[in-house]
Amino acid sequence: MAQPLTIGKHTVRYPLIQGGMGVRISAGRLAGHIAKSGGVGLVAAAGIALNSGLYDGRNFFQAETEAFKAELRKAYEIAPDGIIGVNVMVALSDFEPLVKAAIEGGAKVIVCGAGLPMGLPELTAGYPDVALVPIVSSLRAAQLIVRKWRKTYNRLPDAVVVEDPDTAGGHLGEKMENIGTGEYDQYATVREIKTFFRDECGADIPVIAAGGVWDRADLEYALAQGADGVQMASRFVCTEECDASDEFKQHYLDCSKEDIGLIMSPAGLPGRAILTNKDNIRQYDLDNHTPCRMGCLKKCSYKESGERFCIVTALDRAQRGDVETGLVFCGTNAWKADRISTVQAIFDELFEDAPGA
Ligand SMILES: Cc1cc2nc3c(=O)[nH]c(=O)nc-3n(C[C@H](O)[C@H](O)[C@H](O)COP(=O)(O)O)c2cc1C
Repeated sequence: MAQPLTIGKHTVRYPLIQGGMGVRISAGRLAGHIAKSGGVGLVAAAGIALNSGLYDGRNFFQAETEAFKAELRKAYEIAPDGIIGVNVMVALSDFEPLVKAAIEGGAKVIVCGAGLPMGLPELTAGYPDVALVPIVSSLRAAQLIVRKWRKTYNRLPDAVVVEDPDTAGGHLGEKMENIGTGEYDQYATVREIKTFFRDECGADIPVIAAGGVWDRADLEYALAQGADGVQMASRFVCTEECDASDEFKQHYLDCSKEDIGLIMSPAGLPGRAILTNKDNIRQYDLDNHTPCRMGCLKKCSYKESGERFCIVTALDRAQRGDVETGLVFCGTNAWKADRISTVQAIFDELFEDAPGA
């Protein structure tokens, strides 16, 4: 039977974090229901203002922090005592204000990927109860963060998520040419990081596996391989509670294994997505002559030189239901989705003792 998971001061009944899914795929409703079912629910910060009613075409950064706090409130209305956190990508231009907004909004856990959150403890100083969780794909990245945090802030991460570039959805922390070569070993990385924490820090820090966990067999395998818990994202898209449009969910239901692949993001990272419409994504920006209006990423080839496509608006179109020109991020398992379910039904399937099982 799966054990509860403790991250810093917070314990959830089941060892499951819902992966942050940017641009309103995991907003307050999904995060709240995950927390209600006994996992850690994450509101993803990236592009949260889009389709929120708070963005008026000029106030992007202000709308982002307001919408972020509004979604945290929504999540807490659903699960007042739940463990609700956030996912904030380090690559976002407004990373710092979003971390501050997360704290103001009552986030209990801050998960950071798409870059190494070297200065995160400084931003959260004064809030020791807020758990800090970096996402890495290698032992080396974990070492860099831990050594910097210990030396500068005398602080350790409260958990680490190890994201597998060969299976996870969205932006991936590995070079395009190194993905899918068979060389990466997710659970070896999990164990190396676990050992590093024990040997170098004398601490038993939870290490969470992300990428490719779909069903109970995958979950049990991850735990047997040494992970303390799993982070799951794609599995929760086809739920009633997921914040995406019905068309986005239907695109998961309709896709086949061969439709899922890699696309180069203007952020300079590969991303995994459903690629049936990939030529239309860039064409949309060409047809509509849309220059970068938001500046959402610190580094972006579309912002700098019009190269590739505007990722936040492409993800927003998909979130709203335009899967012909929008970008639908997903993990390698998305083709397995065969029906719209509920968050509780998925917990019931994963954990035999979940309420209602
Ligand atoms: C639609 C979608 C959007 C995502 N957006 C983000 C994001 O904004 N930030 C982030 O750190 N990871 C993001 N991810 C990665 C997930 O949080 C998660 O780590 C990964 O997808 C786990 O693999 P799985 O989808 O096979 O469960 C996204 C994944 C998907 C499918």
